[in-house]
Amino acid sequence: MEQFPLMPLRDIVLFPGMVAPLVVGRKKSILALEDAMENRSPILLVTQKDAKVDDPGQEHLHTIGTLASVMQLLRLPDGTIKALVEGKDRAELHQMHLRGKKNEEFFTVDVTVMTEEPTGSNELQAYVRELKKAFDVYAQGNKKLPREVLNSVTSIENPSQLVDLVASHIQLKTEEKQKILEKISVLERINLVLEILFREMELFAMEKDIHAKVKKKMSSTQRNYYLTEKIRVIQDEIGQGEGGDDLSELEQAIGKKKLPKYALEKITKEFKKLRQMPAMSAETTVVRNYIDTVLDLPWKKKSRAKIDMNRAEGVLDEDHYGLKKPKERILEYLAVQTQVKKLRGPILCLVGPPGVGKTSVCKSIARAMGRKFVRLSLGGVRDEAEVRGHRRTYIGAMPGKIILSMQKAGVINPVFCLDEVDKMSVDFRGDPSAALLEVLDPEQNYSFNDHYLDLDYDLSEVFFITTANNLHGIPLPLQDRMEIIQLNGYTEEEKLHIAEDFLLPKQLQANGFKEGEIQLNEASFLEVIRRYTREAGVRNLERTLAAICRKIARERLKEKAPDKRYQLTGEDVGVYLGVAKYRYGLAEKKNEIGLATGMAWTEVGGELLQIESTIMPGTGKLTITGKLGDVMQESAQAALTYVRSRAVRLGLRSDFYQKIDVHVHVPEGAIPKDGPSAGITIATSIVSAILQIPVDRNLAMTGEITLRGRVLPIGGLTEKLLAAKRGKILRVLIPKENERNLEDVPEQIRSSLDIQLVDDADQVLEEALICKQEEKSLFKDVPFDSIYGNFSLVEHNTPAQ
Ligand SMILES: Nc1ncnc2c1ncn2[C@@H]1O[C@H](COP(=O)(O)OP(=O)(O)O)[C@@H](O)[C@H]1O
Ligand SMILES: [Mg+2]
Repeated sequence: MEQFPLMPLRDIVLFPGMVAPLVVGRKKSILALEDAMENRSPILLVTQKDAKVDDPGQEHLHTIGTLASVMQLLRLPDGTIKALVEGKDRAELHQMHLRGKKNEEFFTVDVTVMTEEPTGSNELQAYVRELKKAFDVYAQGNKKLPREVLNSVTSIENPSQLVDLVASHIQLKTEEKQKILEKISVLERINLVLEILFREMELFAMEKDIHAKVKKKMSSTQRNYYLTEKIRVIQDEIGQGEGGDDLSELEQAIGKKKLPKYALEKITKEFKKLRQMPAMSAETTVVRNYIDTVLDLPWKKKSRAKIDMNRAEGVLDEDHYGLKKPKERILEYLAVQTQVKKLRGPILCLVGPPGVGKTSVCKSIARAMGRKFVRLSLGGVRDEAEVRGHRRTYIGAMPGKIILSMQKAGVINPVFCLDEVDKMSVDFRGDPSAALLEVLDPEQNYSFNDHYLDLDYDLSEVFFITTANNLHGIPLPLQDRMEIIQLNGYTEEEKLHIAEDFLLPKQLQANGFKEGEIQLNEASFLEVIRRYTREAGVRNLERTLAAICRKIARERLKEKAPDKRYQLTGEDVGVYLGVAKYRYGLAEKKNEIGLATGMAWTEVGGELLQIESTIMPGTGKLTITGKLGDVMQESAQAALTYVRSRAVRLGLRSDFYQKIDVHVHVPEGAIPKDGPSAGITIATSIVSAILQIPVDRNLAMTGEITLRGRVLPIGGLTEKLLAAKRGKILRVLIPKENERNLEDVPEQIRSSLDIQLVDDADQVLEEALICKQEEKSLFKDVPFDSIYGNFSLVEHNTPAQ
């Protein structure tokens, strides 16, 4: 069961797939939203049974809610927050917990996700069609529904999304919407919505009838008089009552704010406009929001701190263990920055797998420089408007993320971390990296133009740092502006230090424990590292330690022993964390036939990758299953072609491949980024299966293979070797052409592995396959009849039967 921040909703039900703006004022809700935003975690939105309850507890909430992601937060001057959220999944609420610092508590809640995968059954299809038809009729009767809604409904294929979208567009009471939300079964949900739609349509028809009758009676003059009168009364009630004060307050705020001249002129003009508008028009809100945004931005305010190099070094060491080289590079970079007045030159870019501390090093740099810190995650940003904002004419327009972040920073010279620049993508709405290029260019960024703001904004004092998992994902023009600092994954020893000295103390504090109240001995840390996480960095390690802290906190409450201390041993870990997630150490227990270990480079760093082949009597088919991308398919083909070209040397009949089917499978692990580098591993596994000779279990390999069996170089060597070391591999084969990259591999890793350079697949086979010395001259005459039944793969003196 997972735990997420929780936010109760009054009078709104958010369906999965819907994007909604929410104005949030309750403190717990704001804290929950901020927590979700910060940790990029989903938030659970659940509707209150009674909208009037101000501080709802579990009994005031429905039990089914919606997990949503927070897309944007905009802090309004009156302390409320405007949040843009997107519903993702239905989820059931369980236990609620109060989290956070004193006086800053908010709720988190254990949830189970309740999504039902819709089936493709005919019955469901029929219901879907009926639903589309009914909604079409409904929409024609209801003039308030915009055309686009209808279009998007017709285009949706997924029945669950479809019915949710329809439900969110019918005007219904909150309870009824909640009932729809609570229907987990898609079929039942459609049924319910259909019922409602039919009822509503009937009501429409009746209303229309009545309306027509009344209209006839009322002459048009009468009507106009009546309407104008009504509007006047409403304006009196709402607008004027508080409007007057509010505006003069705003005028004062404008007077007080230090603004550049051009901004002051513009905002004064807008203010005049605002004055003349009726207090309750939609346009008023737009203008008002705009003025608030400008006033909320820092225009001149800055942190006045100088870099003290001694202090900087201290801070970096205080916050992070190891990382010797990156820290040195950062300090050199900072030293240069102290000598020049304005920040110029390349932007730092920290590159490495997740959880190695890129983001947190950025934070540390801010602390070392005595500046504010803001982070903007670019992961998933694909629209230029997300970076640069929407024009104000666009409904619901907001500034872009750069300006929103500056607002959050509150000063014009923060350290600004552009996180995950390699995760941006490009689509038809424009290329976000073009906007970023402008942001990072010192020649242009003193006059950054956000579409919403529509005023030049000076970013030239901002200290930008970027991070990425993977250099390849960064657009080249951006790379040109960057100084790359590589952070590698951690070895087991390093993880131990980090866990003991940094992660555990941090989690103890975050979960309300005093120092030393929970202690883990070395064996228990190792247990967590080896059997509950498998990663290059330490992110899951930190999460897992947090999970232990939470479990113990709960136990302590239950036992009513608030000061009890805990000392965990290796065996205790399982008690709190349940069954181990990973088999420790990937090296196999015995040398297996057809099973070869490769080293892959994945999104999360290096990993061991096990490739398994089996041979069956057949007709020459190659089947590939498991998590193999297209690239790996090609490698497998190349590997098989190589084996065929070597048939005679391997002692096989030249037409052996026509008699067998080869099945290659990758049992587990993440999807490799560099598919081709599994080439020699696949070849080894296939040959081992064909020749029925086991592969050395202590050996791992990496290298691309050509049709003729040459071994080509690969990328990500350091991460791969780290993975081998973590997996307790003793010997590795790497392409000869990668010899020069060995220089960059930390000595500690190099010296713990027996590294052999290969440039030919024959060499690989000789090293990898375990056979007696005399057979090393390549496997003559192995009797296969026993294995393959009535035919032989091997060229015998007697013909095959
Ligand atoms: N060398 C280190 N020393 C101490 N803590 C570290 C170290 N590396 C990572 N961490 C911690 O691990 C967690 C994950 O790091 P994070 O900065 O989010 O990684 P990244 O941004 O590279 O994915 C953070 O809490 C961070 O402080
Ligand atoms: Mg990060």
